[in-house]
Amino acid sequence: MKYSVFTLEEWFDRYEFKVDHLLGSSSCAGMTVNELFDLTGETIDFGKTRLTAAPVGGLPELQEAIATWYKNTSPGEVFVTCSSTEAIFLLVESLVGAGDSVVAMFPMYPALYQLASDIGAEVRKWRLRHENQFRPDFAELEELVDETTKLIVINNPQNPTGNVMSDEELRRVIAVADRAGAKVWVDEVFRGITVDSNPATASVRDLDQSTISSGSMSKSFGLSGLRVGWIAAPKEVLDSLWHIRYYTTVCAATIDQQIAALAHRFRDVILARNQAIVDENFGVLQEWMAEKHGIFDWVKPLGGPITFPKFIPDVDTDEFCLQLAEKYSVLVPPGNYTFDAEGFIRIGYGMRRFGEAMEIVSGALDEYF
Ligand SMILES: Cc1ncc(COP(=O)(O)O)c(C=O)c1O
Repeated sequence: MKYSVFTLEEWFDRYEFKVDHLLGSSSCAGMTVNELFDLTGETIDFGKTRLTAAPVGGLPELQEAIATWYKNTSPGEVFVTCSSTEAIFLLVESLVGAGDSVVAMFPMYPALYQLASDIGAEVRKWRLRHENQFRPDFAELEELVDETTKLIVINNPQNPTGNVMSDEELRRVIAVADRAGAKVWVDEVFRGITVDSNPATASVRDLDQSTISSGSMSKSFGLSGLRVGWIAAPKEVLDSLWHIRYYTTVCAATIDQQIAALAHRFRDVILARNQAIVDENFGVLQEWMAEKHGIFDWVKPLGGPITFPKFIPDVDTDEFCLQLAEKYSVLVPPGNYTFDAEGFIRIGYGMRRFGEAMEIVSGALDEYF
């Protein structure tokens, strides 16, 4: 097979529709079409939607709505994809070739670096170390980047660590990339969800228009069933991936894009709904972690709806998470199998019934130790 097994997605595929609790999900709580209509106070008359193909770059109304989330991005610089998974695929396939090097944060959502490795690029890991509170080390970045580097890939806020790069830190990354002639791409699927009153993250494109931002309806919006994502990038980047899209999906579904456009026009209301769920769950999470201080060494996340606690005792997380899924009906991705990070588990706190799921995990821990 040309592409490596995507173990994180494979773990979800195995359990997502079997378990009672998707505790390890990185998406905010989902909603029905009616709930979206109630929240926004608007409806879409789907009876009038023409079920024909949409423009390759996206429905103009959606491109326009997404562009308003950026300070310096025009609708023509927004390219709508079928989920950010397609955005990732198109960006890697168009920007990276065999023999190039790519510098990628690590641990990170695997598609963001694994695809580059599978097509023959050298992936250099810019490690977010637990002992450094998952904060980036810029001296290491300088060492990793050289004239072969085509791309620096970051996820901000970050999956799975919950790290957030400040504007100042993003500017430093851009400066390092500029010196090497590399591009900066930030996956911003968790943009808009904050924790603990930390400031919201800016889009990297608001800092520098030569950079690339990718986004999704799945994560901070909680609309993962739409399978709509996007790329905001300079025109020459979009030109380079446009033709690859003819081989993937050609365009995103019209109905999905109509719903995404409505959600973007009422972004503030939807993000506020999801932020309220995250805030309540984060309170529960903090208390839970305080109770379990002998079991987990926890670096508090700085943003987004996920966290990556580390077991203090020696625990086989693959085995523990397998038990959680099979015996307790709770899905939690094991750090080792899904992120190549031994001793960690990923917990998402954007879902409904979070406290209930955490109580079940407490019971599983009592039994385990
Ligand atoms: C950082 C990151 N980027 C992209 C994706 C893909 O999301 P989607 O394809 O649903 O837009 C995920 C999914 O977990 C993710 O965590």
